[in-house]
Amino acid sequence: MSMILKPSFAGSTVPPTDMDEMLDMLHHKIKSYLAKDGDVVESIPHSSLSKVADLKLPLEGRGLESLDKDIDEFLRYSVNTSKPGFMNPLWGGFNISAFVGEVIATLVNNSMYTFELSPFATLIEQALIKRMCEIVGFSDGNGTLTTGGSSGNMLGMMCARYKVDPLGQQRGFEGTKLVCFVSEESHYSVLMSANVLGIGFDNVIKVKCDSDGRMRPDKLNEEIERSRINGQIPFCVVATSGTTVKGAFDPLKEISNICSDQDIWLHVDAAWGGSCMFSSKHRALMDGVELADSVCWDAHKMMGVPLVCSAFLIKQPNVLRKICSHGNIAHYLFLDDAKAVDLGRISLQCGRRNDALKLFLAWREKGDAGWARLIESYMELANYMETCVLENKHLELMAPREWTNLCIRFTSPGIDHDVVNRSIRERIVASGKFMTSQSTISDNIILRPVIANPAVTELSIKSFLDEVVGTGMDIIRNIPPKD
Ligand SMILES: Cc1ncc(COP(=O)(O)O)c(C=O)c1O
Repeated sequence: MSMILKPSFAGSTVPPTDMDEMLDMLHHKIKSYLAKDGDVVESIPHSSLSKVADLKLPLEGRGLESLDKDIDEFLRYSVNTSKPGFMNPLWGGFNISAFVGEVIATLVNNSMYTFELSPFATLIEQALIKRMCEIVGFSDGNGTLTTGGSSGNMLGMMCARYKVDPLGQQRGFEGTKLVCFVSEESHYSVLMSANVLGIGFDNVIKVKCDSDGRMRPDKLNEEIERSRINGQIPFCVVATSGTTVKGAFDPLKEISNICSDQDIWLHVDAAWGGSCMFSSKHRALMDGVELADSVCWDAHKMMGVPLVCSAFLIKQPNVLRKICSHGNIAHYLFLDDAKAVDLGRISLQCGRRNDALKLFLAWREKGDAGWARLIESYMELANYMETCVLENKHLELMAPREWTNLCIRFTSPGIDHDVVNRSIRERIVASGKFMTSQSTISDNIILRPVIANPAVTELSIKSFLDEVVGTGMDIIRNIPPKD
C-alpha cells in the first residue's frame, strides 16, 4: 500500500510519524550532547574499541530501528571538541550559527558548481570571497572555498606553476627543474602539493628560520640564487602566517620584496594565522600580505566554523580561471551563458558542498568586530597561559610565542625530559580530561596547547597546567633520576 506523505516530508520514503520522531530524537540528542558535563573523550585504545563497536553492515536493512543506538554509540566515543579541555589541533568549540548553517546546507543538499543548482549559495560564497579579498588587500581579487589549507596551498602552487609554464597544463610538466621555497617550519601540505603536482619533495627547498621560527629573508635570497646557479627554475615561495607548531609569522614584506625582484609567485599559507587580520591590534603580524599573489585562510581553524571551511584567495583571478579551465570541457554542466557566475569554473572540485552558508551565518552574527574580539580574547588567554608557565618552576617555555600556540614542557632537574613529557601527554589524554598535541622542537619533545576554542577560560588553562605539573611530579616520583 502506498503511503501518502505529509507535504512537508514529500520526497522521503519514511512515513511522516517516523520522520517526526526522528527529527525530535535528533533535536533531543543535540541538546543533551551540548548540555552534557564531562570529559573531552572517553579514551579507549583502538584494539578495545574495534572489539566493542558494532559496525556490521547488514544484508537486510534494519530500518530506523538502530539509529538511536548507533548515534549514542558514535557520540559516546567521539572527541568532544567543544569542551574547555580541548586544546589539541588548531580548532575547536561550538558555534551555533555556523552549526545551523551546516545543517541547513545539508538539508538542501545543493552542489556549488553552477548558479543554476546553487543560486543563493553562489551569491553568498561570492560575497564572502569578496570580503575576505578586501581584508587581505586584493582589491580586484577572487577565489574559492576549498577543503582546507592543504588544498589552498596546492592551488597557490598550481597558479605559480601556471605563471612559469602556461602550456604545461596542456602538454604535461617536467617537474625536476621547478623548485619552490618554504620555511623549515612550514606545514607538510606543501610537500603533499609537490607530490601531487609532480614537483618532487627534493624540489621543495627548506629555508632556514630565525630563533623565533620565522623564515630568514637573507637565507631565502641565498637559496634562490643557489637554485638559479644549479639551473633550476624557482617558481614559488610559500610563506607561512602562523606556523603549525610555534605559531610564527614569516616577514611578508621582506619576502615579497625578494619575490618581486626575482619575479617569483608568493603564496601565503595563512591557514592558521589569517584571522589576525580582523584585529587592529594583531594585524601587523601579516603586514605585507597585500603584496602576495595568493593566500589561503581557514575559517575552520581560529574562526571556529565547523570543518571544513577554508578560502583560497588570488590577486589575479584570471590565473585561477585558467588552471581550472577543465570546466570548459563539461558541456553537460557548464553553459556559456553562465560563464561569469558558475563557481565550478574556478574550483578543482566537481560536486562541492556548500561551506559558505555556515561561515556567512556566523559572520552575520558576529560581524568583523565580533571576530576581532574573539581573536583578541584568544591572544589574552595565550598571554595568561604564558605568564603561568613562566611563573612555574616546573614548566618551561620551549619557543618564543607570537600567536596562541604555546610550546611547553614539564621540567625538573635530572629527568629524561622526553620520556617524562611523552608519558605526561599519554596519561592526560587517557584520562579524557584534556587534549593537547605533542611535537618536537630541536629534538626535544614538547606539549603544544593552542587557544582556538571559545570554551577555554583562565580557569581551564590553570587546571590544564596543574594537571601537567601534577602528572609530571607523579611520574618522576616513580622513576629514578637519569644521572
Ligand atoms: C600552517 C598550516 N597550513 C596548512 C594547514 C592545513 O590546513 P587544513 O587542515 O585545513 O588542510 C595547517 C593545518 O594545521 C597548518 O597548520
